[in-house]
Amino acid sequence: MTFPSKVKIVEVGPRDGLQNEKETIPAEVKIALVDQLTQAGFANIEAASFVSPKWVPQMATSTEVMAAIQRKPGVIYSALVPNMKGLEAALAAGADEMVIFGAASEAFSQKNINCSIAESIERFRDVATLAKQEGKRLRGSISCVFGCPYQGEVGIDSVVDVLHRLRDLGCDEIDIADTIGVATPNKVHAVMQRLVQEFPIDRLSGHFHDTYGQALANIYASLEVGISIYHSSVAGLGGCPYAKGATGNVASEDVLYLMQGLGIETGIDLDKVVDAGQFISRHLGRKSASHAGNAIAAKRAAS
Ligand code: HMG
Ligand code: MG
Repeated sequence: MTFPSKVKIVEVGPRDGLQNEKETIPAEVKIALVDQLTQAGFANIEAASFVSPKWVPQMATSTEVMAAIQRKPGVIYSALVPNMKGLEAALAAGADEMVIFGAASEAFSQKNINCSIAESIERFRDVATLAKQEGKRLRGSISCVFGCPYQGEVGIDSVVDVLHRLRDLGCDEIDIADTIGVATPNKVHAVMQRLVQEFPIDRLSGHFHDTYGQALANIYASLEVGISIYHSSVAGLGGCPYAKGATGNVASEDVLYLMQGLGIETGIDLDKVVDAGQFISRHLGRKSASHAGNAIAAKRAAS
């Protein structure tokens, strides 16, 4: 068993993390959060989502956020784009990477983006073409790989089918998402083993929500397969508005602590991520959901 010697951690807190918050978060707070995450050393930050504000009101300030963040050269600032309208807004805002997001579950596709899987791929075709013409990176996300809040079981054949379609649209990277955090490590191991037969291993990522507390174990199982890109959210923020009951992504601080312990390089300063986690948790008026973040903050306070 050889683990990757370094991994890329994509910080999705400002998007996946905040999109589900009920209270409107001022753009300045989002901007300050992205800037702190940039300073912490993340090479890829999902900073915005150009979706319908009627569907996800919290993301309505995405243009403002993208305009004011202090970009560090070389850092990729990604944005979700469900259709051409979203892509045009993301291009105008100067997003570096466009994320098209589909699902392996028909029921979730309908609830989340109001169309079937096949229709979503057709919708993404023009988005992918224009994004590429504009020289942007293109990432594809597959929701509900390990289970769906509406239809339950999701077969591996549906996952492989969507993966092939996103690959054929020219995606540079494809995210394997456990939207509702139901997966356990043996299943993750088996699914990842299968998917690396279908798409280059160094361009597949694990996007694990932590609803059932399994996300770190699922990352460990993915590391065993050799997956080297993971998504996480500072302070464990988040959830999907169309996956009721699903909690946040695995916390960035916890993933970084795990990687440190395993001797896997990330290029990210854990202490600065803890600061960012404390900052946003203070703003939201609740305790951070990161075990490592809280432990490190408590240790600091005691010393
Ligand atoms: P629709 O209602 O079928 O779209 O929604 P429409 O084309 O009929 O447009 C309806 C209205 O929305 C129109 O406005 C459009 O202009 C506007 P009106 O004429 O009524 O005033 N509109 C837009 N406005 C701004 N930006 C846009 C846009 N598009 C249309 N891009 C649509 C279809 C896809 C737009 C909608 O379903 C939507 O926005 N869905 C997004 C849902 C979402 O953001 N979910 C969370 C992100 S996915 C996720 O979290 C999972 C992930 O983390 C991985 C995992 O964990 O699984 C990625
Ligand atoms: Mg997600």
